[in-house]
Amino acid sequence: MKKKIAFITGITGQDGSYLAELLLDKNYIVHGMKRKSSSFNTQRIDHIYENKKYKNRFFLHYGDMSDSLRVLNLINSIKPHEIYNLAAQSHVATSFEIPEYTSDVNALGALRILEAIRRLKLIKKTRFYQASSSELFGEIQHKSQSEKTPFYPLSPYAVSKLYAYWITKNYRESFNIFACNGILFNHESPRRGETFVTRKITLAINKIALGLEKCLYLGNLYSLRDWGHARDYALMQWKILQQNKAEDFVVATGKQYSVKYFVERCCKFLGIKIKWIGKGIKERAVVVEIDNTKKVKVRKNSTIVRVSEQYFRPLDVRNLIGNSKKAQRKLGWKPNKNLGNLIKEMMISDRKEILNSIKKY
Ligand code: NAP
Ligand code: GDD
Repeated sequence: MKKKIAFITGITGQDGSYLAELLLDKNYIVHGMKRKSSSFNTQRIDHIYENKKYKNRFFLHYGDMSDSLRVLNLINSIKPHEIYNLAAQSHVATSFEIPEYTSDVNALGALRILEAIRRLKLIKKTRFYQASSSELFGEIQHKSQSEKTPFYPLSPYAVSKLYAYWITKNYRESFNIFACNGILFNHESPRRGETFVTRKITLAINKIALGLEKCLYLGNLYSLRDWGHARDYALMQWKILQQNKAEDFVVATGKQYSVKYFVERCCKFLGIKIKWIGKGIKERAVVVEIDNTKKVKVRKNSTIVRVSEQYFRPLDVRNLIGNSKKAQRKLGWKPNKNLGNLIKEMMISDRKEILNSIKKY
């Protein structure tokens, strides 16, 4: 049987790396778009590139979502059966600083691909996945958010993703392109970017426990998020494109926790018990008990987490929890609600990474 060909934009990101592994294991030929950078930006996929098992089935091409001609030419030469549009300026806080760039890449980026599919007459051949986001729900209108919940975006990032969501639906309905939105809630992993809150916490708590840093500075401790594992979500991205009919799906775990709770659990994993004192910008976490068997280098009564205004956003999505019943029914989605396992995997991986970088140094 002829192998399926996939094209992934954003292949060097967290999700791109898991999706590439998944598709290669399903015997796809995988092409990915990477950006030209003055330093290495392929750390998350180097292991794939080096794996002999995937030789002649894994290809990287330079490109940028802001470059229509390059996007069109790549799709023309690859002629993929499936396109996964994961590339984005994906940091919500940063989108307030660079709103125009964020919109160009995230909103028009999706349009550029859809137009390429149409102009190259690939409508019958190529299926399109758009990485939509629970950020679309923003100021939430329903207690838990499903495909039927109205959107109320609260950042330039979310507004750009709103355009991408609608243009995907519009090209599906206007031109009959098999184009789908995966409205994914937050998903994390050891490969998560270091400035997103979970990874920032797992890295910093490890460094503090090793005596390499004194204090972690965070913004809104009270945000509630529905956190899943990125590997599970990559499987859903693929499944969304394997349906008989093009549709949009919410993917979520249906459980939510606060940023504050995430910090407590990471500390607990290393045998550090903390107590929160103070309010608002003065709130901080103080060490109250240490499990001596874990040999951490923190002292009782020391402050290891503080709040900093620097990390507050002009507007913040405070409360997200997904209702993924449709994905459960139609895609066989089985939400993995175990936050403890996710934290354990991230904490162990970061500790290893930190110790390795010290050794190298
Ligand atoms: P990520 O780790 O930030 O990866 C983003 C990818 O996009 C990277 O490969 C990045 O390249 C690439 N990229 C950024 N700007 C680009 C440009 N101008 N041209 C070409 N490529 C560009 O994000 P992720 O967590 O994997 O998320 C994947 C997608 O899902 C994103 O669209 C995100 O908005 C969306 N999403 C994520 C979540 C989540 O919780 N993770 C939830 C819902 C939706 P570099 O490596 O060179 O930076
Ligand atoms: N990044 C960050 N840094 N966030 C912090 C911090 C901090 O120091 N302190 C508190 N937070 C709060 C943010 O205000 C937000 O409410 C929450 O932690 C989660 O922030 P992020 O981890 O940056 O993720 P996000 O929810 O804004 O966006 C991620 O998930 C979206 C899906 O809902 C990104 O992956 C988006 O690309 C994705 O669409």
